[in-house]
Amino acid sequence: MLAGKRILLIIGGGIAAYKSLELIRLFAKAGAKVVPVLTKAGAEFVTPLSVSALAGTKVYTDLFDLTDEAEMGHIQLSRAADLVVVAPATADLMGKMATGRADDLASTLLLATDKRVMIAPAMNVRMWLHPATQRNLATLQGDGILTVGPNDGDMACGEFGPGRMAEPAQILAAATAALTSGPLFGKHVLVTSGPTHEPIDPVRYIANRSSGAQGAALAAALRDLGARVSFVTGPASVPPPAGVDVIRVETARQMLAAVLAALPADAAVMAAAVADWRVANEAGQKMKKDGSGRAPGLEFAENPDILATVSHSPDRPRLVVGFAAETETVVQHATAKRARKGCDWIVANDVSPGTGIMGGDENAVTLISEAGAEDWPRMSKDEVARRLAGRIAEALQ
Ligand code: C5P
Repeated sequence: MLAGKRILLIIGGGIAAYKSLELIRLFAKAGAKVVPVLTKAGAEFVTPLSVSALAGTKVYTDLFDLTDEAEMGHIQLSRAADLVVVAPATADLMGKMATGRADDLASTLLLATDKRVMIAPAMNVRMWLHPATQRNLATLQGDGILTVGPNDGDMACGEFGPGRMAEPAQILAAATAALTSGPLFGKHVLVTSGPTHEPIDPVRYIANRSSGAQGAALAAALRDLGARVSFVTGPASVPPPAGVDVIRVETARQMLAAVLAALPADAAVMAAAVADWRVANEAGQKMKKDGSGRAPGLEFAENPDILATVSHSPDRPRLVVGFAAETETVVQHATAKRARKGCDWIVANDVSPGTGIMGGDENAVTLISEAGAEDWPRMSKDEVARRLAGRIAEALQ
């Protein structure tokens, strides 16, 4: 079921660490390759030898192990996984994750990873219920971290209540669901996002105010439905979500090349705010004032239209979705744009200055398809993304 999947398993320091040995066995039986990391406290409960014997591979234990750094740096280790599982996730580890501390190998990997992370918390009832832990939990969930458990029950410390680590079979099921389920499982979706930067000279460029928030939210929502997402992004201010393949570009022409290289895909969603024009006479050296008071003359050339190119490509995805940011007669303009670009849907929004949409957290969109125009109420960009991802999943069934 998990054949070919790689799990980075971080074992924290708690009595439940003994259950992680069983978890390694279950992951291995399901076909996954487990790369284990044992914290210093974790090694007080289970030995590195038993962990590596069960995983059939070496166990990573210390950030400052120079042999490990030479063999595989911690950044690479954090990224060469399909899913990072923390079991047991102690109160201390959760605190470190929530505040972004990186003072040992495990916490550094957790900060450096670009993959999805699932935690299986395990601790004393009071520690679990403490407002500090609950605050950390809320922060982690807000960051998109998946959780499994804890369960209610008798605890090693003699108390009863929530705090017992989820059973290994339950963690396996949750990890399997995260890796192999969802209506878009097996589908490849391409998302473009962010602005493009069009150079004037080596230090100056033309850009726009796109934050990349809507594109990042969409990529996360599509990933959550099980899609493999190729995320081609310009220099956005919102970071890309974990668990997607990120391809960073600067210019529209680089974006087009990256998009074409990422095809074939089942669907393409072009949320990038691509510059329509680039500077045709880009200077090879920094442009200087010549003292004459004359402004330099910039000449412009039209950028390729990525959406139109993909819509008319022989590799055309089954569903191509474009965005239209308009400041007036939104539906009329967006409907014409849909026809002109040859895409299936246009997600139109009004970005007039008063709306606060460009660079803001909310969006009010109209979905334009062959069936006509459908107004969605104003909602968060995350909610727009979830709804749109749901509609894409329906369309690809
Ligand atoms: O023409 P306009 O920029 O309004 O079209 C917006 C839609 O077209 C968006 O989906 C945007 O990502 C896409 N687009 C593109 N390449 C361009 C210009 C826009 O893919 N050069």
